[in-house]
Amino acid sequence: MSQPVAKVSLTGIKPTGEPHLGNLIGAIRPALQLAEQYDSVYFIADYHALTTVRDPELLRHYSRSVAATWVAAGLDPRRTTFYVQSDVPEIFELNWVMSCVTGKGLMNRAHAYKAARDRNVEAGEEPDAGVNMGLYNYPVLMAVDILIMESDVVPVGRDQVQHVEYAADIAGSFNHLYGKSYSFKIPKAVVPEVGTGQTLPGLDGRKMSKSYDNTIPLFLPENKLKKLVRRIPTDSTPVEDPKDPDGSPVFQILEQFAPPSAADVVADTRKRLEQGGMGWGELKNVLFEVLNTELTPLRERYDALMEPGSELDTMLAEGAEQARERAGRVLTSVRKAVGISK
Ligand code: ADP
Ligand code: TRP
Repeated sequence: MSQPVAKVSLTGIKPTGEPHLGNLIGAIRPALQLAEQYDSVYFIADYHALTTVRDPELLRHYSRSVAATWVAAGLDPRRTTFYVQSDVPEIFELNWVMSCVTGKGLMNRAHAYKAARDRNVEAGEEPDAGVNMGLYNYPVLMAVDILIMESDVVPVGRDQVQHVEYAADIAGSFNHLYGKSYSFKIPKAVVPEVGTGQTLPGLDGRKMSKSYDNTIPLFLPENKLKKLVRRIPTDSTPVEDPKDPDGSPVFQILEQFAPPSAADVVADTRKRLEQGGMGWGELKNVLFEVLNTELTPLRERYDALMEPGSELDTMLAEGAEQARERAGRVLTSVRKAVGISK
């Protein structure tokens, strides 16, 4: 019997900030696990980031840094097709074709655009104030990312599910018009169950997020990591008093981040906090040690990949070549189907 062809799993990563612990636990690790069961295609969505990142140096930096992060965290470019979106010009040609089969009404209803309008109206501004066409057309480009690689499943966070549904809709419109000649595969969103199903808290106890400026960046040098952990706010409960571990972001980060090999450290720490006799300072030392042990090998790999001319360049160049081959096949069929080429 011949081997069944593996299903394609594709996801895009928008390079808009310095990766943090929440991203590693909530997005990177689950996506890497999923990659093992699929023909996986992961890419850096740099042109999507351009809708918001206006500083060219910063965009270049984030794109490289996010790519290096995924490789440092374990992405294996021999198993996963890994590339930067802007290295695949076929995407942008198909983007035009797909805009021509996409209803404007569909874009009007997209969550991100609607949220921007609602914010404007609430603030008494013009509804479209500050909305660029990139933000408006964002779902079409994302649909193209997905469709051009013939994706079956798209692992995304909940906020992105509508975009994947849009990709299915847009594929449907194309298939309806040109299906006799070429049909896109209809993709499906999958929302990975995040490890423990929890959201990692940030330094202030709210969800760890760039937007709250409360993150632990993944690749801080050791001394900066130590300083950051020390600065996590705590109350003034005396060392000898019992403490509630579940009410402390320091403990929660420790519990969610610690690997199985540190399970007894976590259990012991919980007990000592509950009994009294362990101060916040000591708890922070425990957290720092666990973080540093886990992150040091990643940081070393990341630093090496970030060097100009590192092997990351070769990986991404090879990835782009593979991606262009896949995309080129689809684009050739589409050009024929719509009447641009013979
Ligand atoms: P941020 O909130 O910092 O802007 P993003 O929205 O860019 O992060 O998130 C990218 C991915 O990382 C998302 O898929 C999300 O599920 C995951 N993620 C971000 N923050 C956390 C967190 N605190 N806990 C768990 N997962 C997270
Ligand atoms: N819009 C996604 C986000 O903000 C990033 C993205 C771009 C993407 N293209 C994609 C995700 C294709 C999945 C598939 O996170």
